[in-house]
Parts: sequence; structure tokens; C-alpha cells
Amino acid sequence: MNRLQNKTAVITGGSSGIGFETARQFLAEGAKVIIIGRNKDELDNAVGELGEGAYAVEADVSKVDAIKAMRGKIEKIFPSLDILFVNAGIAKFAAIEDVTEEWFDNQFNTNFKGAYFTIQQLLPLFKGSGSIILNASLNAHIGRPTASIYGATKGALLTLAKNLSAELMPRKIRVNAVSAGPVDTPLHHKKGLTPDQQVQDHENFKTIIPIGRMGDPSEIAKAVLFFASDDAPFIVGAEILADGGMSL
Ligand SMILES: NC(=O)c1ccc[n+]([C@@H]2O[C@H](COP(=O)([O-])OP(=O)(O)OC[C@H]3O[C@@H](n4cnc5c(N)ncnc54)[C@H](OP(=O)(O)O)[C@@H]3O)[C@@H](O)[C@H]2O)c1
Repeated sequence: MNRLQNKTAVITGGSSGIGFETARQFLAEGAKVIIIGRNKDELDNAVGELGEGAYAVEADVSKVDAIKAMRGKIEKIFPSLDILFVNAGIAKFAAIEDVTEEWFDNQFNTNFKGAYFTIQQLLPLFKGSGSIILNASLNAHIGRPTASIYGATKGALLTLAKNLSAELMPRKIRVNAVSAGPVDTPLHHKKGLTPDQQVQDHENFKTIIPIGRMGDPSEIAKAVLFFASDDAPFIVGAEILADGGMSL
């Protein structure tokens, strides 16, 4: 299929999970894709697996200087950009009593500040119309113990999608958001759980997600692809909730 033929796309956090699967689907639809991440080996492996049309740029999006350097490298590969999937994120969960300033800043710097300044720095590369998609989360909609900071970073992204939609309308750049429920990605192995606890964690999700299973990254990537494509020209500042019924 050629829904993104001749389009250029940047995906932050494209070396793993939802971002990687989205890169795969974008490439299959004819786009060229730059993936961003901090770990060079993981980027190299991902680009090798994605194949022709995939490029990698190493950057830590939690730091504005690094985002500025990233922009320079992206510009050398793609002088103009059509699609930006703002996806890089971390998920840490803790009770309010246990949250430190460093912990708070780390989450906000990656999930929200990183998203904001990535968009700011890459905007000049949008020479014509375009599509920006933000990866938010179901946690912006429901209340769960230990999710106060993570949920707040994602709620901020939903607000950003609406405000930037209004601001970027004259430039024909659409901004939308995807909010997933629990998706089976390496993110859930980065929560500091032992292997046994990870298995238990996975089993627990089956009981709390009405559809009876975690989401698959490909199911979220399809929603991102829809917003990125010309199938969604009239959809602005919107959100797709893909959560297996958890918000019902
Ligand atoms: N999985 C879920 O259940 C779920 C549900 C709802 C929303 N989401 C959201 O979906 C997004 C992707 O999550 P995922 O589940 O696919 O996780 P993942 O497999 O852990 O992938 C996260 C990606 O983000 C990159 N990343 C993290 N911090 C970064 C930084 N400071 N600078 C640059 N890249 C960074 C990682 O690469 P490096 O570590 O090499 O930097 C990796 O490529 C996140 O925003 C997450 O909040 C996930």
C-alpha cells in the first residue's frame, strides 16, 4: 500500500515498542523514516531490521540542547518533513510520598518538555502541510494509584494537541493524539520488576482490561498511521483511545 508514498517521517522513541512498529508500518506505506533514541546499539539494530528507507539519529529528547543538535542531523537527512510522531516516553509509577524532585523532573522532561521542544525545533522543517501525532495514554483519563506523575505528563500532551492544533491550523499542520491502554512492549520490563513479577504483571493486565488481553503495538501503530495519512484530512486536535475498553 502507498498511503504515505514519498512522505518523510520522524519518530521519537522509534527503536522499540510502539514507535518501532509505527516505523515499520510507515515504511510499508512508502514513507522514509528517521527513528530517534538514546541507545546507539538499539537504534542500529532497529534500522537494520527496518531496512531500506530507515535512518537513525541518536538523541536524548529530555534535553533541549540535544534536541537542537538532533534537528541539525535530521535536516541533513530530510530537508523537509511531513510527519512527526512524538512518541518517546518513560513510565514510572510511585505513590506521592515516594516521589522526589529528580524523579518528577525526569518524567516531565522526557514525556512533556521533550515532546514540546521536539515539536518546536522540528516545525521549521515542515515546509508544507503536515501531521503531528502525540503518544499520550489512557492514564490521562483514569485515576490509578501510583500514576499521578505519569498521568499528568500525558494529560499535558492532550492539552498540547488541542492548543497546537489551533496555532498550527494556518500552516495546515494537523495535531492529534493517540491514547493507549496497556500495550505489550519493553516499557513494562523497565518498571524494575523481577522476571516472576513481570509474568504476574502481565497476568494482572488480562484481568483488568475488559477485552481480556494487553494491546499489541501494531494496533496502536494503525491509529497513528491513520492520523498521519491523507485518510484524516478533516481531523484536528482529536484523540483515538485504544484501550481494550478500560475507560468504559
Ligand atoms: N506500552 C504501554 O502500555 C503504553 C501505553 C500507553 C502509552 N504508552 C506510551 O507509548 C510511548 C512508547 O512506549 P513503548 O511502550 O513503546 O515503550 P518502549 O518500548 O520502552 O519504547 C520507548 C522508546 O522511547 C525511547 N526513549 C525513552 N526515553 C528517551 C529519551 N529521553 N530520548 C529519546 N528517546 C527516548 C526509547 O529508546 P532509548 O531508551 O534508547 O532512549 C525507546 O525507543 C511512550 O510515550 C509511552 O508512555 C505506552
